[in-house]
Amino acid sequence: MTRKHFKVSSALKSIIGKDLITDDFVAIFELVKNSFDANAKRVDVVFERTLSDDGRIIILDNGKGMDLKDIEEKWLFVAYSAKKEGIEDYRDEIKTKRIHAGAKGIGRFSCDRLGKVLTIYSRRNTDEKISKLTVDWEAFEKSMQKKFENIPVEYELIDSCEHKLTKGTVLEIANVRSVWDAFKLRKLRQSLEKLINPSQSNVKTPFSIYLKAEEFTSYDSEAKKNGQDHEVINGKVSNFLFEKLDLKSTSIKVGIDKKGELITTELFDKGQFVYRMAEENPYKTENWALSNIRVHLFAMNQTSKSMFTKYMGVRPVQFGSVFVYKNGFRIHPIGEIGRGDVFGLDGRKQQGTSRFFGTRDLVGRVEIDGDNDEFREASSRDGGLERNEAFIYLQDFFIDHVLKRLERFAIGVVKYGNKV
Ligand SMILES: Nc1ncnc2c1ncn2[C@@H]1O[C@H](COP(=O)(O)OP(=O)(O)OP(=O)(O)O)[C@@H](O)[C@H]1O
Ligand SMILES: [Mg+2]
Repeated sequence: MTRKHFKVSSALKSIIGKDLITDDFVAIFELVKNSFDANAKRVDVVFERTLSDDGRIIILDNGKGMDLKDIEEKWLFVAYSAKKEGIEDYRDEIKTKRIHAGAKGIGRFSCDRLGKVLTIYSRRNTDEKISKLTVDWEAFEKSMQKKFENIPVEYELIDSCEHKLTKGTVLEIANVRSVWDAFKLRKLRQSLEKLINPSQSNVKTPFSIYLKAEEFTSYDSEAKKNGQDHEVINGKVSNFLFEKLDLKSTSIKVGIDKKGELITTELFDKGQFVYRMAEENPYKTENWALSNIRVHLFAMNQTSKSMFTKYMGVRPVQFGSVFVYKNGFRIHPIGEIGRGDVFGLDGRKQQGTSRFFGTRDLVGRVEIDGDNDEFREASSRDGGLERNEAFIYLQDFFIDHVLKRLERFAIGVVKYGNKV
């Protein structure tokens, strides 16, 4: 018997790069998540000259940075994730209690989706020189015959770079593949506002995202002058606060504890507490239980819908409906209009229009925390969660223990005046 080995063609780069990440926003999210995972307190997403041919996208963080060893053993090691192995910064993790957003070891290839050439500058502290790595993604596209690992990427140590980098990582993406105009940047800002769950139990240290596009500063001043603050592109990205809807609508909070024993439900109407109850969690098998999950769901009436539009600058129907967050980060595209309706809300509504809520009537979030490994993000990063048994349990829980109870009150009691 002889042993044979797989060979890997350089064509793998596109399969896990620009072909896998089919959405520009998702590509940015992946890089922001990496900065978060690197314990950064701040990440700047900068767009330079993106209306012209020599535009650049720069992602700059003040996280832990990488030295040559990290670059060789982590960044340049395809489909390897130290986070998944559980050996990425054990000490830092205990200190900050951050649970990593990444685990597959492919997120960094989303740089390929955004632009043809990537330059990384990184360092772990000011005593060290800066590591500079240059990747020309097109070099991988020239011949399928070439082996992945034989395509060179350039590495050097330098004393300084154009970005003020004391500690952390800068990803400089040149030859940007698409046009980032005001409309797209505004949309990106709105998407980034939904990327992070504002009530993160996962994060003890703060994390902020800043969006910068100097080409659009006069556009921003114009928007501000017209009182349209939600049109502004530059500045800190603030998380969307669902709780602002509290006083205007009926809402329900349902949680399953960490051990998966109890389901606790609380219902509020226009800010007033209505009822609370606890019951045994039926979503259990012998060795697994739906656990460490919280849902906060709002029923949108005419008043809350118009308040929403005024505050957000978009109608709730364009904003999306029920988002899912795993350890603080949104799973895309769950919650988006159409393809993000993973709980089948609109199909259900069609069966009984006046008795059921559809995506247009709901805004809210599902938070999945802790290990909860059964809930796995699809590798395509735009495919939501894998449709496994855990996911089916979650769907069932959401419809039976959250949605139906909200409907019973908001439609049955508020609208038709029945008793609780
Ligand atoms: N901004 C950064 N700062 C420090 N290290 C980074 C940064 N970005 C990436 N890395 C390192 O490169 C590795 C690969 O990142 P990548 O996003 O591809 O994989 P991952 O985050 O482990 O998993 P996923 O594919 O689920 O995102 C990371 O595990 C981390 O060690
Ligand atoms: Mg990642």
